[in-house]
Amino acid sequence: MSSTLTVTGGAPLKGSVAVRGAKNFVTKAMVASLLGETTSRLRNVPAISDVAVVRGLLELHGVRVSEGAEDGELVLDPADVEVAAVADIDAHAGSSRIPVLFCGPLVHRLGEAFIPDLGGCRIGDRPINYHLDVLRQFGAVVDKRPSGIALSAPRRLRGTRIALPYPSVGTTEQVLLTAVRAEGVTELRNAAVEPEVLDLIAVLQKMGSIISVDTDRVIRIEGVDTLTGYEHRALPDRIEAASWASAALATGGDVYVEGARQPDMMTFLNTFRKIGGAFDVDDSGIRFTHPGGPLRSIALETDVHPGFMTDWQQPLVVALTQAQGLSILHETVYENRLGFTDALVRMGATIQVYRECLGSTPCRFGAQDFRHSAVVSGPTRLQGADITVPDLRGGFSQLIAALAADGTSRVHGIDLIDRGYEHFADKLAALGAQAVRDEEPARV
Ligand code: EPU
Repeated sequence: MSSTLTVTGGAPLKGSVAVRGAKNFVTKAMVASLLGETTSRLRNVPAISDVAVVRGLLELHGVRVSEGAEDGELVLDPADVEVAAVADIDAHAGSSRIPVLFCGPLVHRLGEAFIPDLGGCRIGDRPINYHLDVLRQFGAVVDKRPSGIALSAPRRLRGTRIALPYPSVGTTEQVLLTAVRAEGVTELRNAAVEPEVLDLIAVLQKMGSIISVDTDRVIRIEGVDTLTGYEHRALPDRIEAASWASAALATGGDVYVEGARQPDMMTFLNTFRKIGGAFDVDDSGIRFTHPGGPLRSIALETDVHPGFMTDWQQPLVVALTQAQGLSILHETVYENRLGFTDALVRMGATIQVYRECLGSTPCRFGAQDFRHSAVVSGPTRLQGADITVPDLRGGFSQLIAALAADGTSRVHGIDLIDRGYEHFADKLAALGAQAVRDEEPARV
């Protein structure tokens, strides 16, 4: 089943929206609850479908998950963790990439794990070779089967020295979730240090782990025998915050994003200012405005933290279609994250995609012939169109284009947007957008 949003664009977004806990942290913190001997409480959990998927998978493995007293609070009780039926796990195939992070915790708890084929957004090949390599280094035996991957450990997993070929967020989390209960010390070089990773480390420390993070992307973990549950409030979603900021800029609007946190968004804020957007930071959030006058074109390269996040790129590109001159974009994290621009071109944008690296940030994709750079020429008026969203962030980007465009757009497949944006149609309405959903989102 796929829902459609009918958007009548052309009006600036104005008002206030609140961002919830970060999808890319909350789902991992939920997995971490598997490692504790006692109950965990996680607050500020967004009502998004990726959370529902992870909840379902935890429940299949015997974790009792319930709502706490506070809105957005989850209580996770891992007392009865058990092996789940492969057929049940398989039913989750294709719905998320998070299952791969169950490996270490399940092997510690049960001596075995099975993970289905992985889903997630189609923004590149998204292999799990780094994940499997590090699990093998801890001593896990990896058996690839047609329906998924089975892991086992003949004896307790052991700490190890790992150097990642690339500072992968998910693989860093895999190492953390596995090393905390492995025997001995693990040293991880070239680790990802995204704020979501650091918040996961905070959770693991609350649970009883010993983890240090050096300034040179080196993380050291001393394994311990047991961990307890945790209580934690998730950090706000800086991707959602930047998405609303980009929507404000592209529509010439004025949006206060409650919960947006400056330290996690420094690089985005610098870029927003260079384009000609204005922002005001206060204790509770950030107000993003289009101050009037023309926007400026820029050169933008995505990178791992503290660089410009790949997930910020897609929403911001719509604002670049409204900037004067040529903007140059180089996507260095995912090889295939520019497909969403096809729809923007149909709506009137001038965007040319290139296989060459249009920038100097070291990148794995130029030599491999991937369409990962673009030149955006503006400003161009956008016209409403019929669109089918390709992935989560690309979908939100196309939604912003529909809001900025003249006329009416029909945006199909917006269930993909439910994966990461809580109640986004209600939030749009609160900002004055004319956007009507053809059916209510599934309850998550
Ligand atoms: N990679 C490999 N092999 C692996 C793992 C990663 O080659 O085994 C490559 C990927 O193909 C990619 C690069 O390494 O080219 C970076 O991938 P990373 O592992 O850092 O990404 P991830 O953990 O799969 C998370 C977020 C993404 C976000 C990236 C980068 C979650 C669930 N997903 O993905 O979020 O873009 O980090 O910050 O945390 C989104 O929210 O829409 C989203 C895609």
